[in-house]
Amino acid sequence: MNEHVSLSVPADEPPARQNERTNSRKVFIKTYGCQMNVYDSGRMTDALAGDGYVATEEMGEADLILLNTCHIREKASDKVYSALGRLRDMKKARAAEGKELMIGVTGCVAQAEGEEILRRAPAVDVVIGPQTYHRLPEALKRARAGNRVVDTEYAVEDKFEHLPVTEKAKIRARGVTAFLTVQEGCDKFCTFCVVPYTRGSEVSRPVQQILDEARRLVDAGVREITLLGQNVNAWRSEGEKGEWSLGDLLYRLAEIPGLARLRYTTSHPRDMDDKLIEAHRDLRALMPYLHLPVQSGSDRILKAMNRRHTAAEYLRLVERIRTVRPDIAMSGDFIVGFPGETDQDFEDTLRIVEDVHYAQAFSFKYSTRPGTPGADLSDQVPEDVKAERLERLQALLLKQQADFAKSCVGKVIDLLLEKPGRMPGQVIGRSPWLQSVNVDAKTSQIGDIVKVRIIGTGPNSLFAEPAESLIGP
Ligand code: 5AD
Ligand code: SF4
Repeated sequence: MNEHVSLSVPADEPPARQNERTNSRKVFIKTYGCQMNVYDSGRMTDALAGDGYVATEEMGEADLILLNTCHIREKASDKVYSALGRLRDMKKARAAEGKELMIGVTGCVAQAEGEEILRRAPAVDVVIGPQTYHRLPEALKRARAGNRVVDTEYAVEDKFEHLPVTEKAKIRARGVTAFLTVQEGCDKFCTFCVVPYTRGSEVSRPVQQILDEARRLVDAGVREITLLGQNVNAWRSEGEKGEWSLGDLLYRLAEIPGLARLRYTTSHPRDMDDKLIEAHRDLRALMPYLHLPVQSGSDRILKAMNRRHTAAEYLRLVERIRTVRPDIAMSGDFIVGFPGETDQDFEDTLRIVEDVHYAQAFSFKYSTRPGTPGADLSDQVPEDVKAERLERLQALLLKQQADFAKSCVGKVIDLLLEKPGRMPGQVIGRSPWLQSVNVDAKTSQIGDIVKVRIIGTGPNSLFAEPAESLIGP
């Protein structure tokens, strides 16, 4: 069974790309991992535009290939080296024709492995960490002059200050929904997780920078913004009257005319403060969907994971949120087979899933990550036990996901029309609960929010019919 249970667009889907100029150099970016990498890939494209690079979706026609990598689990990191093996052959073939192909590794594997990548993969020209990708053009120049570059410093300068603003046409080409990174890094140090090491400590972008970027996005036609952060609800910054938390920021963003929908991900239960819960009560723009990982339902394991909350505290939190926003769809992350996890601990995880009723979830086998405290624990769980537990957990989560989808049938909902569907005359939209919904509509209506009635469910999406005339404005 697939490790990833999800109704949503795969996180590694590349951002829409454009290729309006034909004489320039072309960059192909393969994005692995989370939405933050998707956002970063877009910003790297912006950074390279000044050097005449345009993005392409055809790897074969690229002069520069970047692998924007993920280090969260072993499988994710392994993918990078196998991809680099294939790229080495491509580079050789290109060189035989007297043509250039530059190869870069960016993202979390770059940060974690740095020099090691150059050693293991001679075809790689540049290795750039997540905090320094604004220096990518300069690194490529140095590499072209014969000096392979590793730049994984935590840059003193704010990379966002140095990145060019995204052009309006590019924003438009990327669609009517957009990611906006507001926070990076993590200070939580869950014992299984590499993020505090690869992405560094928690840093929040200032209010004004975020508001400016949000306004630019909306100005270019974006209707829905998802605020991103490894620990997005730990975002804190100086506002007008003292320090703001994410709740304050959401209230302000909701005032931007034309911005119809807001979301945020990923959150830590410890950082769900009162203001953020109130925002779910008050803001119609804030969608009724919350990704709130719990990882395990066993207090023993939660303690060993250094999650710093109990299962009961998590359940109380979910209850508080549901009290103010009864239609909220809950999403979560789970790890099975953390060192020392017994059958009883795993049963506790199944129980918390039963108690919460998730609309969607991601679940993983524990993967030992070098350098994390979990890697040093002696009582590792055998692979076959992890596999069996994952299968049981995923069966339950899939059932809850299907139940949630079925409970939507018959409802009239607001649908944000996002992109053309597979069939002519069909458009795919997003429900408030982040489900993909197919409906008959015109592509000229993309960006509109329309009323539709859900009439059926498919494996990964819903089907709807117009609940009002979709002739549109
Ligand atoms: N093994 C398995 N899953 C992990 N995650 C993070 N680190 C690990 C690991 N070492 C999962 C957690 C986290 C999600 C992004 O990835 O569930 O919430
Ligand atoms: Fe990793 Fe825990 Fe930080 Fe999330 S909160 S990024 S799981 S250390």
